[in-house]
Amino acid sequence: MSKSFDITVESLTKPATSDAPEVHATASVNNGGKSFFIETFGCQMNAHDSEKVAGVLLARGYRPAASAAQADLMLYNTCSIREKAAQKVFSRLGEWRGEKSKVIGVLGCVAQQEGEDIFERAPWVRLVCGSASYRKLPELLEEVESGGWRVTGLDLDTDETFETEITRRDNPIRAYLTIIEGCDYACSYCVVPHTRGPERSRASDAILSEARRLAEAGYTEIQLLGQTVNSYRDPGPRGMSFVDLLRAVAAVNGIRRVRFTTSHPNDFTREIVQAIDETPELCEHVHLPVQSGSTRLLRAMRRTYTREEYLEKISWIKAARRPISVTSDVIVGFPGETEDEFQETVSLLDAAGYDGVFSFVYSPRPNTTAASMTGAIPEQEKLRRLAYLQEHQRQIQTARNATLVGSTQEVLVDSRHAARGQWSGRTSSNRVVNFVSQQENLLGEYALVRVERSGPNSLVGEHVTGTTGGRHGT
Ligand code: SAH
Ligand code: SF4
Ligand code: F3S
Repeated sequence: MSKSFDITVESLTKPATSDAPEVHATASVNNGGKSFFIETFGCQMNAHDSEKVAGVLLARGYRPAASAAQADLMLYNTCSIREKAAQKVFSRLGEWRGEKSKVIGVLGCVAQQEGEDIFERAPWVRLVCGSASYRKLPELLEEVESGGWRVTGLDLDTDETFETEITRRDNPIRAYLTIIEGCDYACSYCVVPHTRGPERSRASDAILSEARRLAEAGYTEIQLLGQTVNSYRDPGPRGMSFVDLLRAVAAVNGIRRVRFTTSHPNDFTREIVQAIDETPELCEHVHLPVQSGSTRLLRAMRRTYTREEYLEKISWIKAARRPISVTSDVIVGFPGETEDEFQETVSLLDAAGYDGVFSFVYSPRPNTTAASMTGAIPEQEKLRRLAYLQEHQRQIQTARNATLVGSTQEVLVDSRHAARGQWSGRTSSNRVVNFVSQQENLLGEYALVRVERSGPNSLVGEHVTGTTGGRHGT
């Protein structure tokens, strides 16, 4: 039987601090029915932070607005990883120039990076709050609600994590779960340590309670999040390692898939590969960003590993019994990158055999050491390198995906393209599979799909049998 559920359904889960049964949001503060809208930019951690912020707002009696225009409170949860991302925020804020009837707030990485300067550039903004201060959101909101302007939460030096009363998850299929916040690395190009603060792990008890509640709410897939997720160290009495935690989340009754992102190569161990090999619930996928294939550049980037050390870790993954997919992030045009060094990155794509690569042109960022390095690469040359690298990777993916034609894959169905009459979902290896089926509703189900065609970014196939159970173990 396939259980139907609405893709827009809101799952409200209880705090990660007790094993009490799930409660739905109740308004603890009366805000006269004010409404909110959050627009989110950036990474999955930001997306999940927005879900938690939405939970905080619901608990204060706010209700979701259908659009930004209709909202009494408009929040931008921002990203400043590259210059373009940060610019987008100011162009969005510009659309509300002089706005007085609605409260406008800036959250996230641009908030932390630009701080009170945001009030100078956009005086109609009333709240600026970085992610390390989200615990204070109820107090900050109270200040705004009682007429306050220029309200800030910008402390970065914290050992706290953002634990919320409720989380309003947007995705009914895959539940995000933050296990570690901030970052203690100091990659020379990166703003994250400046925008998200020092590394702090959540206690494993809280994480496991939340995982159990997610399973009870019907989720079968959990994605553990952290900028360096595998640097996890349990501050609680159980003292779990990252691998202990992976195995424990995978063992939660009802959870069929566990993903984790992003892994830092420096903390990537053989034990992680062994755990994936031994635990079917741990997905066959590791996102292990390399950034560059040149050891000299890796040193300049302060990535803490060499090309050879990185490739050795890849060889552990490739030697596993399960076919574990590896994906990566790459930066081209870092200051001083020669053509030969760029070609080392291209050749590393072949050596690593990636199933996906997010590639970016280097963008100088405030407060980073790389921003003052000499040897800037001209913009046009950066773009040439990017296009070359992307075409090379496209060929690698085309060839790798072609080997799957004829195979049968288990797909967790997450969407439907009504116009094409197709369902879509992901394999354990995180590949996108589009397929046709006679069945009426497959959302949230695990479907067996025979792969008939392949492209660089997805597979196409046909549903072969019923389902292998889904959200509620049907
Ligand atoms: N914590 C993750 C990466 C987070 S940022 C890690 O250590 O791998 C996501 C990606 O953005 C990075 O992997 C990097 O490829 C890219 N990135 C970060 N800073 C950048 C910059 N200044 N210019 C271009 N790309 C950048
Ligand atoms: Fe940025 Fe490096 Fe930390 Fe990743 S590990 S968030 S790239 S400083
Ligand atoms: Fe962007 Fe901040 Fe994430 S800079 S990528 S939103 S950690």
